[in-house]
Amino acid sequence: MSPDPADVAAGDVPPERVDAGPVVVRRLRASDAGAIAAAVGASLEYLQPWMPWATPSAADRGTQLARVAEADQRWESGISYTYSVLTAETGTLVGEAALHRRVGDGSVELGYWIAAGQSGRGYGTSASAALTSVALSLSGVNRVEIHCDAANAGSAAVARRLGYRLDRIEERRPEAPGESGRLMIWVLDRAASG
Ligand SMILES: CC(C)(COP(=O)(O)OP(=O)(O)OC[C@H]1O[C@@H](n2cnc3c(N)ncnc32)[C@H](O)[C@@H]1OP(=O)(O)O)[C@@H](O)C(=O)NCCC(=O)NCCS
Repeated sequence: MSPDPADVAAGDVPPERVDAGPVVVRRLRASDAGAIAAAVGASLEYLQPWMPWATPSAADRGTQLARVAEADQRWESGISYTYSVLTAETGTLVGEAALHRRVGDGSVELGYWIAAGQSGRGYGTSASAALTSVALSLSGVNRVEIHCDAANAGSAAVARRLGYRLDRIEERRPEAPGESGRLMIWVLDRAASG
C-alpha cells in the first residue's frame, strides 16, 4: 500500500509523481482542469455533504483552470501541494489529494476526494498512504493530520486504515450540509509511521 521509500525523495519539495499501487498521484496541472470539472460535476451529490466547495461552478473547466493556477502558486510557495489521483492502469483522473502546511510547525494536513463512480476501490486509501509518506519525507515534518467530520464514516475509515490515531474531536460550526460540527483530528506521528 505504501510507496517504495525510494520513490519519495527527502527534502523541502515533494516529488511531483508517486506510484502508489492502483493509483498514481501526480502534481495537478492545467491539462487536468477539464477532467477535474467533469469528475466534480458527476459527483456533486456525493461530495456536497462534506466539501463546501462542491458547487455547480466547481464543475466548470474555467473555474478549475483558475484553481490549478492558484494551486501552482501555493506549490511554489510551499504552502500546499495538490495532486491529481489517476488510475495506474489507464491514467483516468479519479480524484485529488493534497498536503497543506496550515496546521502548525512540523505538521501537515492531508485532504482528499474521490469521484462518486470510483469510490470503494481503494483509490482514496492508496493515494492517502502515498501522500502520508511524502509528507513525512519533507524536512521538518513530524506529523500528518487528517481532519474529517465525525459523521464522515468513509473519510474516517481511510484514516483508521492507514494507522492514524484519533487525537481529539473539536466542536466547530458545520461547513457542509452532511457535517455534524464535530471535527475529528486524526494524527500519524513520524515515530509511529514505521
Ligand atoms: C472518503 C473517500 C476519499 C474515500 O475514498 P475511496 O477511494 O472511496 O476509499 P477506499 O476505497 O480506499 O475505502 C476506504 C475505506 O472506507 C470504507 N468506506 C467507504 N465509505 C464508507 C462509509 N460511508 N461508511 C463506512 N465506511 C466507508 C471502505 O469500506 C474502506 O474500508 P475497508 O476497506 O476497511 O472496508 C471518498 O469516499 C470521498 O471522496 N468522499 C467524499 C469526499 C470526502 O469526504 N472527502 C474527505 C473529506 S475529510
